[in-house]
Amino acid sequence: MIKRPKGTQDIIPGVIEKWHFIEEQIKKICSEFGYQEIRTPIFEYTELFQRGVGESTDIVNKEMYTFWDKGNRSITLRPEGTASVCRAYVENKLHGSPKPLKLYYLGPMFRYENTQAGRYRQFHQFGCEVLGSDDPLVDAEVISLVWELFRRLSLKYLEVHINSVGCQTCRAEYRKLLQVFLEERRNKLCRDCQSRFERNPMRILDCKNTNCQSLTTDAPTTLQNLCEECQEHFNRVLALLTASNIPYKINPRMVRGLDYYQKTAFEIMAEGIGAQSAICGGGRYDRLVEEIGGPSTPGIGFAVGIERIIALLENQNTNIATTKEIKVLVAAIGENPKIEGFKLLTQLRQCGISALMDLTGRGLKGQMKYADREKIRYVLILGDDELAEDVVTVKDMILGEQEKIPMDSIIKYMRNEIDKTSCSD
Ligand code: HAM
Repeated sequence: MIKRPKGTQDIIPGVIEKWHFIEEQIKKICSEFGYQEIRTPIFEYTELFQRGVGESTDIVNKEMYTFWDKGNRSITLRPEGTASVCRAYVENKLHGSPKPLKLYYLGPMFRYENTQAGRYRQFHQFGCEVLGSDDPLVDAEVISLVWELFRRLSLKYLEVHINSVGCQTCRAEYRKLLQVFLEERRNKLCRDCQSRFERNPMRILDCKNTNCQSLTTDAPTTLQNLCEECQEHFNRVLALLTASNIPYKINPRMVRGLDYYQKTAFEIMAEGIGAQSAICGGGRYDRLVEEIGGPSTPGIGFAVGIERIIALLENQNTNIATTKEIKVLVAAIGENPKIEGFKLLTQLRQCGISALMDLTGRGLKGQMKYADREKIRYVLILGDDELAEDVVTVKDMILGEQEKIPMDSIIKYMRNEIDKTSCSD
């Protein structure tokens, strides 16, 4: 048997309802906060991610699904959404729209990662990106949007970790300081960190290797070396989070795995879903749009892993109500009743009443059982007797009662019944 590729998932009925519920909440909250949806291609020219996400990152170095297409162009399945949104912003000249532009997206991303619980090769992100404002209010707004989403999903035991990774000016100085500190410890670092020393020394600070962690306990942090502007920005963001009652923890060692961040960087961590505890990651990227060829435009955003939300909902036993939609089963017995039944089914559907008909040739008993199992309240029985009398027998599966209704008033009758009982279902 051919199996699905490693690191991918089938989202099957019974699970998909959770996805729908989460997606509905996302769309609702984004609309309430004034964010508009954007959909960008699943694949892009590789150069976009090399320039956008950064040559020195693990994503670009090790994790991209890259191939040559038939026209000899290097193509990559998107590993994240921010670079694509910025490209679309420039390409569609969205910088002409009133500022800031507040966008959101939902969709699959691809990273060739070592798979484990919560870490997939195809996974799904909900992300927001705000372009055109460097005001700390936007930093606070995006964090409060995702915090409110998690509140509505009843997720518990979450913590916002926040840091400032500085800007071009203060980070250049900081990098030198850090390299001086690391120089004498360099040979003791893990192999990955040794190669990070030149490429991306800040990443050494959030290496998961315990030896690297103890070697860098006293390393200087960006927070101790912020320029005045970055410090002021960070203070304002914290004040706004406090004002909106969002608990946060300053984490000076949190360095995000993408190169484009400046100033604010944050993650939301969850208890109870194992090692992959970040359910959201984001930050400010004030130079990214320019780096990919657009006008100088500040930006900030985040992305949430939908699989990790689902894992968390399951871990916290949060029940998601999956309401059954189907109200009516048309149970037709015999060849002519089936034609009349199909006509009735079509009319019910045209009137917006959710209805099914048996498609496998079950007898009346089998159809009753089916309605019972699927929790369909009304069965409309149509046999030769009903046809002769020009009626339909309506059986209410909850009350166990049945009555004959003239064919020409059945739609009106069903609509009344459904309106009457929909609150008590
Ligand atoms: P990221 O931290 O790489 O950031 O990913 C954001 C979230 O996506 C993570 O917190 C996690 O929940 C989920 N995620 C990432 N990789 C995987 C995986 N292999 N399997 C399952 N879930 C995963 C970004 O992607 C940035 N583009 C976020 C951003 C938007 N920054 C600014 N704007």
